[in-house]
Amino acid sequence: MKLIVDHADLDQIKEMFEYFPVSGVTTNPTIITRTGKDPYEVLKSIREFIGADAELHAQVISSDAEGMMAEAKVMRETVGGNFYVKIPTTKEGLKAIKNLKKEGFKVTATAVYTSIQAYLAAEAGADYVAPYLNRIDNLGYDGIQTACDIHDIFENNGYQTKVLAASFKNTQQVLELAKYGVGAATVAPDVIRNFVNNVAVDSAVDAFVKDFNATYGDGKTML
Ligand code: E4P
Repeated sequence: MKLIVDHADLDQIKEMFEYFPVSGVTTNPTIITRTGKDPYEVLKSIREFIGADAELHAQVISSDAEGMMAEAKVMRETVGGNFYVKIPTTKEGLKAIKNLKKEGFKVTATAVYTSIQAYLAAEAGADYVAPYLNRIDNLGYDGIQTACDIHDIFENNGYQTKVLAASFKNTQQVLELAKYGVGAATVAPDVIRNFVNNVAVDSAVDAFVKDFNATYGDGKTML
């Protein structure tokens, strides 16, 4: 399962790429507004840092298919590299996805709350489908189960479309999807940092160092 950073702040993205096995960045319109900067300035600086090969996903704002397609063209041209345009999985969005795929775009179908949306997006040719786990849970449904069902729909129908699970609030949600083997998870830095925030691990490592330094001298390492 690919691990992707769900954020637009360059400092946080840099930290994630320096320390964790992440391979791309997703943004959404709300995430971009939090930077307080021009959206293209944000996306171009992310692209410059992660390089042309890494996935960068960014979302259109228009709600009609023609508007979505027009934005997708400008966004791909301006941001460049391995760019995925995020299209909300509405009726208009499905029309845009079908047409964008004919024009060779890489498409992430987003705002997915139900398996039927995911099926339609895959049939329309989307490369990724992004179910919003935590938001589904907040509606009283089961986000993990929905993402696993979507994965099964893709496998059972031979779609090339992958799940890009989104909207995580904790480690367990990510782990469940890794166990199931979904294609990718996009996760915010706060949640990623907690993957290795473990007092038992810290205590074990501290004890090894303490034992070693008590015998071979303070500050001694294997150098
Ligand atoms: C990703 O593409 C989504 O926009 C994002 O994960 C939504 O996360 P949220 O539910 O925490 O806002």
